[in-house]
Amino acid sequence: MISLRRVGKRYADGSEALREVDLQIAGGEMVVLLGPSGAGKSTLLRLMGGIERASSGTVEIFGQNPAQLDAGRLALVRQQIGLIFEDFKLLHDRNALQNVLVPLEIAGYRGAEARKRARAALEKVGLGDRESARPDNLSGGEQQRLCIARAVVSRPALILADEPSGNLDAAQAAAIADMLKAFNAIGTTVVVATHDPLFRDRLAGRAVKVEAGRAYTVGSGGKGWVT
Ligand SMILES: Nc1ncnc2c1ncn2[C@@H]1O[C@H](COP(=O)(O)OP(=O)(O)OP(=O)(O)O)[C@@H](O)[C@H]1O
Ligand SMILES: [Mg+2]
Repeated sequence: MISLRRVGKRYADGSEALREVDLQIAGGEMVVLLGPSGAGKSTLLRLMGGIERASSGTVEIFGQNPAQLDAGRLALVRQQIGLIFEDFKLLHDRNALQNVLVPLEIAGYRGAEARKRARAALEKVGLGDRESARPDNLSGGEQQRLCIARAVVSRPALILADEPSGNLDAAQAAAIADMLKAFNAIGTTVVVATHDPLFRDRLAGRAVKVEAGRAYTVGSGGKGWVT
């Protein structure tokens, strides 16, 4: 599903975020990226999402190299990926329901069917009673949950999540972990970067440690997670 071979990433300012990363993620896996701040976890997720290009090496997403795709084909790949990123922009001139409708409309859903699905996704993240609120009138945790609803509503084949429990309390974080696990249980590939030990333990899955721009598998099923 995702293949990185000898991938390096150097930003325009010269900082080297990733070095010679080899990582293969099979369809249906749950992978948890661990590692200290600045290690390269977010960079790795952005490469996997086709949002940024590698400086060296090869990235394949669903068997396709994003660097070799035209904008239209890249958009088709990105449609199959649900992104849960803190800086991933919500539309501030639309309410919560309308934000969640966006990926559904892109996927071809319209009218009552689209609204039904969007409301179900809002319910799942505990925002069923906030569908008319604009993002600016939601708390940080609520905005994060709205991003999650938007990311999962069109049932993407791959979910990439960067610190999805960052702004959430323990109960909300547990609910989000369980939701990601439920998607994984029906075959969705899930890759999550997290610092949160409770969240990490609840997700279980395969642990990949990212350190100084390199990535190694260190355990699976919740074992080997000494950080
Ligand atoms: N847009 C950018 N331009 C320049 N350097 C960047 C950029 N984004 C990240 N970096 C650098 O790349 C390295 C890896 O950053 P990255 O954000 O991937 O780390 P991280 O593991 O996600 O950290 P954190 O746990 O703090 O989120 C860091 O040294 C960072 O300063
Ligand atoms: Mg990060």
